[in-house]
Amino acid sequence: MRLVILEDYDLASEWAAKYIRNRIIQFKPSAERYFTLGLPTGSTPYGCYKKLIEYHKCGDISFKYVKTFNMDEYVGLPCQHPESYHSYMWNNFFKHIDIDPANAHILDGNAEDLEAECQAFEQKISEAGGIDLFVGGIGPDGHIAFNEPGSSLVSRTRVKTLAKDTIVANARFFGNDLSKVPTMALTVGVGTVMDAREVMILITGAHKAFALYKAIEEGVNHMWTVSAFQQHPRTIFVCDEDATLELRVKTIYLLTILWYSGRR
Ligand code: GLP
Repeated sequence: MRLVILEDYDLASEWAAKYIRNRIIQFKPSAERYFTLGLPTGSTPYGCYKKLIEYHKCGDISFKYVKTFNMDEYVGLPCQHPESYHSYMWNNFFKHIDIDPANAHILDGNAEDLEAECQAFEQKISEAGGIDLFVGGIGPDGHIAFNEPGSSLVSRTRVKTLAKDTIVANARFFGNDLSKVPTMALTVGVGTVMDAREVMILITGAHKAFALYKAIEEGVNHMWTVSAFQQHPRTIFVCDEDATLELRVKTIYLLTILWYSGRR
């Protein structure tokens, strides 16, 4: 496990974007061999997408041979709704880069058969050869994607009812009107993300500090689903200083020293 601490949100976003860019460049994707990237939504990854767009525009990186799989989507919100994750991804990332829209996979929260949609998504990931790098964000209650507290740590893509805390946290995107926030979502499972060859989790802001503490200082716990990634062989937590406020100095010393010496 690696913990990378940057001074603030902008530097954390830039670090994450450079890491993704470098991974894709090193992979040398081609028509025969696509790079497969798992992606999150939310306010946290916004700065990282902005940087990746910059790198694309200055010719550093192409997404022509990249396939993406998004973590989650609300159920019942039209794709065109400004707060759907389809809109978010299109407006904040996909329309600014050279990805083939057919290679950008997002769960359809309006599918007639939601269970079948979830199974098909897992199938598509496996047909793509699995995920090379899954980038994730977390809620203040430590959920990853929409794997709410109490989710199985071996869960797969499925329909989830959202926890009250998540509905309250996401109300800011719906004019602070709780009644407008969808109450269900489709989400990849913890097991789906654990299958990725590498996982990078972005955690910024003091409001996520307790979740980061639960994620890395305490044991694996299904009430803080992000803690499952302690057991992934290649996980990087990318944070700003505010997110580390609940960590012990010793933890920072141990994990950052290990990072600088190249060990995990
Ligand atoms: C939602 C999403 C998560 C996301 C989380 C945090 O609950 N389902 O995938 O990580 O919000 O969002 P933010 O980055 O806006 O705090």
